Amino acid sequence: MVSYIYYTRFIAKNRSFYYAEVMSENQTKEEPLKQIRDEVINLKESPLYEYRVINNYYPVIGQGSHNAKIMFVGEGPGRNEAETGVPFCGAAGKILDELLASINLPRQEVYITNILKDRPPENRDPLPEEIKIYGPFLDRQIDIIQPEVIIPLGRFSMAYIMGRFGLKSELKPIGQIHGQIFSSNPLLGPSVKIIPLYHPAVSVYNANTKEDLKKDFQILKQFMN
Ligand code: URA
Repeated sequence: MVSYIYYTRFIAKNRSFYYAEVMSENQTKEEPLKQIRDEVINLKESPLYEYRVINNYYPVIGQGSHNAKIMFVGEGPGRNEAETGVPFCGAAGKILDELLASINLPRQEVYITNILKDRPPENRDPLPEEIKIYGPFLDRQIDIIQPEVIIPLGRFSMAYIMGRFGLKSELKPIGQIHGQIFSSNPLLGPSVKIIPLYHPAVSVYNANTKEDLKKDFQILKQFMN
């Protein structure tokens, strides 16, 4: 009996430690993430700022768990995303949702963001000066969330993320390295796995790419709880 009471007290005590820890971890992530949001909202020096304002668009910062083990990084918001502030909520988002569902990975358990936080006109490819201005915000999101696995979606995110984690020498066309697991350079901080995948938008028009994406998604299962 005594040991049972002791045991339940022990569990309760540890549980409250656990909650306190999770709470404070969430709080410590919340503030710097809000800071990023506020800085992006006021990023008047961005070449995409005026386009956002004229069109009444929102910046698209990111969505998902601040404690996510898996982070997806797209290129830049499309029209649906800029009208709502939610990443991957249009046609490409529908495919991403399908792919997540195919491995039973709830969207709210991962973190989804882009390199560019504002919509480029007509969804054109990101320009180097845009990547230069928005890249540091993505770097800070990664440092705060500390995912174990980063999934760059498409060649621009792949090049940025692999460069950032010391993998420039391993860069090849995405057709050759999609679905491969790369380990970050240990000199650059805590270990991160990088798995480049095709951008889901490509698979809207290309059934082969969609099949590749489906197969590549299976790899993520080993990183899920
Ligand atoms: N394409 C992207 O790269 N990001 C989005 O958020 C939507 C479409």
